[in-house]
Amino acid sequence: MNAERETRGSYWLETVSPGDPAPPPSGDIAVDVAVVGGGVAGLSTAWELVRRGHEVAVLEADRIAAGVTGHTTAKLTALHTLVYDHLRRTRGREGARLYARSQSAAIRRAAEIVADLGIDCEWEEAAAFTYAEQEQDVARVRAEAEAAREAGLPAEFVTGTELPYSIAGAVRVTGQAQFHPCKYLLALAEDLRRRGGALYEGTRVVGLTEGEPCVLSTDTGVSVRAGEVVIATHYPVFDRALLFTRLSPRRELVVAATLDADRAPRHMYITPEQGTRSVRSAPFGDGKRLLIVTGEHFTPGSADVEERFDRLTAWADSRFTGLTFTHRWATQDNDSTDSVPLVGPFHPGSHHTYVATGFGGWGLSGGIMAGGLITDLVEGHTAEWAGLYDPRRVASVVREGTSFLKHQAQVARHFVGDRLAPVAGSVEDLAPGDGAVVRVGGHQCAVHRDGSGRLQAVSARCTHLGCLVSFNRAEQAWECPCHGSRFAPDGRILQGPAVRPLEMRHI
Ligand code: FES
Repeated sequence: MNAERETRGSYWLETVSPGDPAPPPSGDIAVDVAVVGGGVAGLSTAWELVRRGHEVAVLEADRIAAGVTGHTTAKLTALHTLVYDHLRRTRGREGARLYARSQSAAIRRAAEIVADLGIDCEWEEAAAFTYAEQEQDVARVRAEAEAAREAGLPAEFVTGTELPYSIAGAVRVTGQAQFHPCKYLLALAEDLRRRGGALYEGTRVVGLTEGEPCVLSTDTGVSVRAGEVVIATHYPVFDRALLFTRLSPRRELVVAATLDADRAPRHMYITPEQGTRSVRSAPFGDGKRLLIVTGEHFTPGSADVEERFDRLTAWADSRFTGLTFTHRWATQDNDSTDSVPLVGPFHPGSHHTYVATGFGGWGLSGGIMAGGLITDLVEGHTAEWAGLYDPRRVASVVREGTSFLKHQAQVARHFVGDRLAPVAGSVEDLAPGDGAVVRVGGHQCAVHRDGSGRLQAVSARCTHLGCLVSFNRAEQAWECPCHGSRFAPDGRILQGPAVRPLEMRHI
């Protein structure tokens, strides 16, 4: 292993120049459709709508493509680990078929857009594999190959790959793709603006009043009136349908290393073993490619992240030789309790609000699919797979019983249990770069000591629904285990659903 520890963040974000931020609106505005969130789901929706002649504004709290989309592994595939065998049991063969058709259509749509707009986003056609190294897992992989083929994908069971280590069996689906997600999304944003769409960055939406029109309020003080509103903020910043009961946040780590191009895998791999390992490579220049390895998923705020980064790095190093580690970052997504994203009308009574969330780590094909599905709904059409993804679908014990109960128990433990749990010792014990929840004057405070020894204290109660945050030392962030909000040491929001920062505390 290259012993030198590199700390560069997302390779995707490092290799684009997004230019100056698009400023917030200077006064109140009115549009046909307001899209909240400038990731792949939001921008795909906005772009499709603008192309069909709607007046659209995208409101992004940070920068376009800088959130989840800028931290993915950027695989565009309809093979989502072992989803088809699960779907044919829980949603029937037709459900699995619709899932395959919708995700495949999204990949074809992305290919069309790349070709039509001439986007230079390192697009590469590749096969996707779900593999098992251990004999005891082969039956699951074989069942997935059969279910995926039955659902209409060009899937087959194979026992060999180009990987430099042996596998016991794999599903292979050809005709999938990988690309540079930020180059793709920034080109889409540029084209959106060229076609008259409006883009506002640094504009956090903090309130929504549904009606005709709907009214959004922002942290910059301006209001946005819109006939239709799309909430595409990863975890919904508003939750009118109690979706939080059906979404579990999941954080995952990524390490990247250069290796000689002739030794790099050209296809995309994932195994559910060892808590999931995902592998792909990307062009890097100078006869090299960048190996990108993802894994070690955990609930935000609940793990020793440094130790997990070490484990992932060691795994990559044991499987590939001659690696020079260059980047590492983390990504976050939400799993829905039935493993199908929630895309469509926001809640049972909604007529003009839509949501896209719960992509379970497959947000690129899912986000592009959501763009087409929501655009159709806004125009009064219904895609054949709209029912599969409809957020208003009734929760079923068969589909999501165990997963639903587990998530509820976890949230209840953090919400109620955290109030009773003992907190860490004293502020004096904190090492530089560390953070802990301590009781000061009867209040639970989240206290951080920076590298120079300076202390900073904020409220330890997440501003979303009040769970207790914990400190992620490797990423220097306060994280909420309930629904995944993340905050900087000074309380600033790094990731929703929280829309208010943690309050400052004086200690
Ligand atoms: Fe919901 Fe913190 S994210 S309580």
